[in-house]
Amino acid sequence: MNYNEAKEKLEKYSQSHVLQYYDDLCDACRNEFLKQIDSTDFGVIDTSIKAMNDKKQSVITPIKALQLDEINNKKDTYYETGLKAIKNGETAAVLLAGGMGTRLGADGPKGIYDIGETKPKYIFECIINNLMDVTNAAGNFIHLFVMTSDKNHEVTVSFLKEHNYFGYDENYIHFFKQEMAVATDTEGKILLDKKCHMANSPNGNGGWFISLIKSGLINVIKDNNIKWLNVFAVDNVLQRICDPLFIGATIEEGKSCGAKVVKKASPDEKVGVMCLKDGNPSVVEYYELTEELMNTKDENGDPAYNFGVILNYLFDVATLEKISNAALPWHVVSKKVPHLDNNGKLVKPEEPNAYKYETLILDMVEMFDSCLPFEVIREKEFAPIKNKTGVDSVDSARELLKKNGVTL
Ligand code: UTP
Repeated sequence: MNYNEAKEKLEKYSQSHVLQYYDDLCDACRNEFLKQIDSTDFGVIDTSIKAMNDKKQSVITPIKALQLDEINNKKDTYYETGLKAIKNGETAAVLLAGGMGTRLGADGPKGIYDIGETKPKYIFECIINNLMDVTNAAGNFIHLFVMTSDKNHEVTVSFLKEHNYFGYDENYIHFFKQEMAVATDTEGKILLDKKCHMANSPNGNGGWFISLIKSGLINVIKDNNIKWLNVFAVDNVLQRICDPLFIGATIEEGKSCGAKVVKKASPDEKVGVMCLKDGNPSVVEYYELTEELMNTKDENGDPAYNFGVILNYLFDVATLEKISNAALPWHVVSKKVPHLDNNGKLVKPEEPNAYKYETLILDMVEMFDSCLPFEVIREKEFAPIKNKTGVDSVDSARELLKKNGVTL
């Protein structure tokens, strides 16, 4: 793309200010900048802001979860079916590690964070240890796809290599990068963080399957006849990955998708909640859950929307391929974004000053014709690390890990 083409593209989206420092730039910077402009989808900004302002009203109704006692009654069948699928190589895992971990505030990818007390214990190490419980039981490795972003790819790849993949077979680990999205001010005007660079960040965890296809790794899935993908977050250090019970239950119950859920700690806990939206399985974000829904009771007097997702999903590959071109809704998120002020000086805001644009994996659930909310025990499977201290933090995760017999 040359300067005139860039100017024309930006004018179309009323973002011409992006080129205000172009004359000051060296040739190499100009080239990089033009490349960024060329590869950016500016349409996302208007689409997202419009969607934020006219939210579609949906009819939300409860969905039934498969609860602990029911799982327990059929645990042998579920386990056997799940383990068989793993032994047959029909299941792979997808680790979402492209996020910025801004709340944790550590330098570098979240997975390299050391939560050890008496010895190093990295988040990636916890995840791989959990996965290896299953590969040891099955007697074979499972393909593990790791999603990174431009912001953390190199560090993630070299960290895992340096640590010898914590004992995992490197031939079964595949890295791919997600896409980025630009950040704007609250009027929708793109922010620059350098004279030759638009402020940008990973575009949310919703684009993982498209990015996997674009990377060419879909061939690994096809060549190995992988039928199920267990997609999970990097920050839950307790979760069971490729859990035979979960896989077996989803298969046995004839569902095309499964979501691990926990009973909510309180009606206003900040987790997405499983429900039916206009009759389809779906996840309603905590900020969309009205007081009325929060307090609705089922026929037994229990909260009707009582199961929160823990970002551990099982998706069948056949459906993923069918829906891969379907557009996910864009979400606008208020964040602190460093940017150049009107005098070209870099400012680092203390309060959210900008919008970031993201698609979310939870919106994929709605695209599946069926979904099994699968209950797990919170104290055994849910220790997300979002913050340094307090709720969902390094401190709370350490406590839970120790309770589960992990030496830190
Ligand atoms: P979060 O929504 O908690 O975001 O991600 P985050 O980036 O880790 O943390 P904050 O909000 O900046 O503090 C949930 C999961 O989705 C992944 C994260 O790496 C985490 O595993 N994720 C998030 C991506 O892979 N890409 C993204 O663009 C965003």
